[in-house]
Amino acid sequence: MRITGTGHASMRIDTAAGSILCDPWVNPAYFASWFPFPDNSQLDWETLGDVDYLYVSHLHRDHFDAEHLKRFISKKATVLLPEYPTSQLEDELRDLGFTSFFRTKSDEVHELDGGLKVMIQALISPTDGPIGDSSLWVEHDGIRVLNQNDARPSDLTRFNELGHVHAHMLQFSGAIWYPMVYELPDNAKTAFGKQKRERQFDRTWRYIDDLKADFVFPIAGPPCFLDDDLWQFNDIHGDEGNIFPDQSVFLTEYAKVGGTNAVVQLPGSVTELSDGGRTQSTTHPMPVDEFFANKVAHLEEMRERKRPALEAEKASWRHPEIDVLGELKKRIEPLLEESIYLAKGVGGPVRFDLVSYDGEEIESIVVDFPGKQVRPYADEKVRYRFKTQRELIEHLIFIDEGDWVNSLFLSCRFSAARIGQYNEFVYAFFKCLSEERLQYAEGWYDEHEKAVDAEDIEFGDWTVQRRCPHLKADLSRFGIVEGNVLTCQLHGWKFDLPSGRCLTGVGHKIRATKNS
Ligand code: FES
Repeated sequence: MRITGTGHASMRIDTAAGSILCDPWVNPAYFASWFPFPDNSQLDWETLGDVDYLYVSHLHRDHFDAEHLKRFISKKATVLLPEYPTSQLEDELRDLGFTSFFRTKSDEVHELDGGLKVMIQALISPTDGPIGDSSLWVEHDGIRVLNQNDARPSDLTRFNELGHVHAHMLQFSGAIWYPMVYELPDNAKTAFGKQKRERQFDRTWRYIDDLKADFVFPIAGPPCFLDDDLWQFNDIHGDEGNIFPDQSVFLTEYAKVGGTNAVVQLPGSVTELSDGGRTQSTTHPMPVDEFFANKVAHLEEMRERKRPALEAEKASWRHPEIDVLGELKKRIEPLLEESIYLAKGVGGPVRFDLVSYDGEEIESIVVDFPGKQVRPYADEKVRYRFKTQRELIEHLIFIDEGDWVNSLFLSCRFSAARIGQYNEFVYAFFKCLSEERLQYAEGWYDEHEKAVDAEDIEFGDWTVQRRCPHLKADLSRFGIVEGNVLTCQLHGWKFDLPSGRCLTGVGHKIRATKNS
């Protein structure tokens, strides 16, 4: 089996029974904020795109690159489709010209022509990716690989059941806007960023330890930021609170916990797995150490090269004819009317401060969840406040974007302030700005609200419910208790055991009793 690194979360898997291209991403994503790092635009995509199967793990734009899929990926390829609750991924791929789909069942092994076996595990909670994230397991000729990319299953049991995995590809770096966009003093931001960076690595070690593959491939990040406005997010400034460490940092940190089996691929690196998957040999387009030693020069050169395209894209965001308040009212109020769980979960008004083109005026709009309306800000206390360029919201309206997480929020082109804890419902709502998505999310919360989580486990002095109140991680694997605080390492949420209160997010009480 051959694995070719094609950048970020993308790879091409070649076997004697066929080839699979995964998540090819080349064009900038999220309002041109994210670019693949290292640059992969110079690869021979005509050849790489001539494949038997295409796997797009989910619709996040650093995994689903419509322009690239349309132009370079063979439409003869059969799409290996995760079992998602909505048909959006299939619909968007059909629009790009793909016609052959193999609909997998989540957690079921499927045998394709020539004995190639695949299994896709689909995660479908409203907080998984853009309502759906997935991992691909592949077996051929006794060699097994798991491309987990940035999916966060609560555990890897299902994959372990299928036999020893030889190569494990997974995310290790950040892919979020926290804490950089928050309006906080610099030292607080650094402290939160540091915590986040450590948590990301802890989660990665946990998954690696769970699977115990022969080889670990750190993938799915970090992106790079080439716009001058975002340049500071690249991990090149010695900021210990930067959440986007690269593969060379991964190697250093992994060595500290005893890891010796990492394989770093650059775009164009080729790994051959042989000897039943127990041996690997990798060739690189240039020495990996040398590449990372010259990271700053690589980014600067890339910034200059991509500048014209970036400027052209920025120029396309303005639509001054759009009445932002009127359009948001028209689109969002019917959804507020229908929303029970998400609206209740947000529980207060959310304010958007829109900065005009010249940066002078600000228009303040409130999405009033309890009042079920969108209206001008009325000098009130709000739960969240976002500040961004008016043109970005104009563009979201112009393209009828139904997922603001997969566009505005991941762009990091905003600042935020909030009262109280992180509230997942705010982001869940703004990724469900369509009837289909909102209905799905409401149904999901309805089911989970009613679900009784009866199983308990022991943690020293404490008896605690087995499944994390956040997204059901098995706390016997992911939970750590220090003093009276339980931390679930899947997303780092903390719970105060004596009161059961979640210290990280709103709601999500945990059931815990002290053993006598
Ligand atoms: S499942 Fe998310 S923190 Fe536990």
